Amino acid sequence: MAKVKRDLLTIADLTPEEIWDLVLTTDKIKKGVIDVSRDMEGKVLGMIFQKPSTRTRVSFEVAMLQMGGHALYLGWQTLQLGRGESIKDTARVLSRYVDGIMARVYSQNDLVELASYASVPVINGLSDMYHPVQILSDLYTIYEAFGKLYGIKIAYVGDGNNVAHSLLLGASKVGIDLALATPRDYKPDEKVVEMAMEFAETSGSRIELYEDPLEAVKGADVIYTDTFVSMGDEAERDRRLKTFLPKYRVTMDLIKSTGKKTYFMHCLPAHRGEEVTDEVMDSGLSIVYDQAENRLHMQKAVLRWLL
Ligand code: CP
Ligand code: NVA
Repeated sequence: MAKVKRDLLTIADLTPEEIWDLVLTTDKIKKGVIDVSRDMEGKVLGMIFQKPSTRTRVSFEVAMLQMGGHALYLGWQTLQLGRGESIKDTARVLSRYVDGIMARVYSQNDLVELASYASVPVINGLSDMYHPVQILSDLYTIYEAFGKLYGIKIAYVGDGNNVAHSLLLGASKVGIDLALATPRDYKPDEKVVEMAMEFAETSGSRIELYEDPLEAVKGADVIYTDTFVSMGDEAERDRRLKTFLPKYRVTMDLIKSTGKKTYFMHCLPAHRGEEVTDEVMDSGLSIVYDQAENRLHMQKAVLRWLL
């Protein structure tokens, strides 16, 4: 029987068992317990980028190389997509050349369309709605730091954006408690919150929404933030900064207010002095560079699973 292709467009599509499997595989890859150096031999990953990237691009490209495969950087504007070729035709044509497609695009709908016409697996490398590969690798970073996922409390402070959405889904699938503090006008999408609440019923996670960061961070093991101005939001920059600052900036005082040892996480790139202070970024509580490194190990686990 032909293998049914799988895509990774959102964490909602993964079972808790699949997430755990990816986390534990990542651990084995990082520690060198399993050898994946030939797992992508002869395979090519096409990487479509409609927006800039440092970590996603480099970690996928290096992962493919270190596993014996190859990755192609395909900038949206350098493809015929940039001149109006349809997503449908692009998906069908690329599927004749490559073994998998990773795409960073503005619209989640474009990804869904791409995946529906591609005969090879499609991986979401960030969209307006989600950033699943980031959060999968963050779950591994939390596992690495605490030795467990169930019962850990994360406080997410800032914009209810793509990263917050994937965090909601990832945490609620594996039993992590998540408290989000966002301004009233920048809450996460209601449908995503509803989905997370549903997953939480099975996993035992507590999902809480606040406006006040001080309330959300009480008892948190991790404080997580992201930019207040995501790619695509640049025109709203002034209005956003007025709303978010200074209340939602992660400072040492906010971290100390949790009442316990609390790590700081950020998907990066950080806008030092906006959503987080230099002092926090450079402190011993910051695990942001482990997070960035772990993208590489998790991409290998994801590629191995899907391709
Ligand atoms: N965190 C993340 O996805 O970083 P890049 O935008 O650099 O890929
Ligand atoms: N929320 C950010 C994440 C960058 C990795 C953005 O979409 O720009």
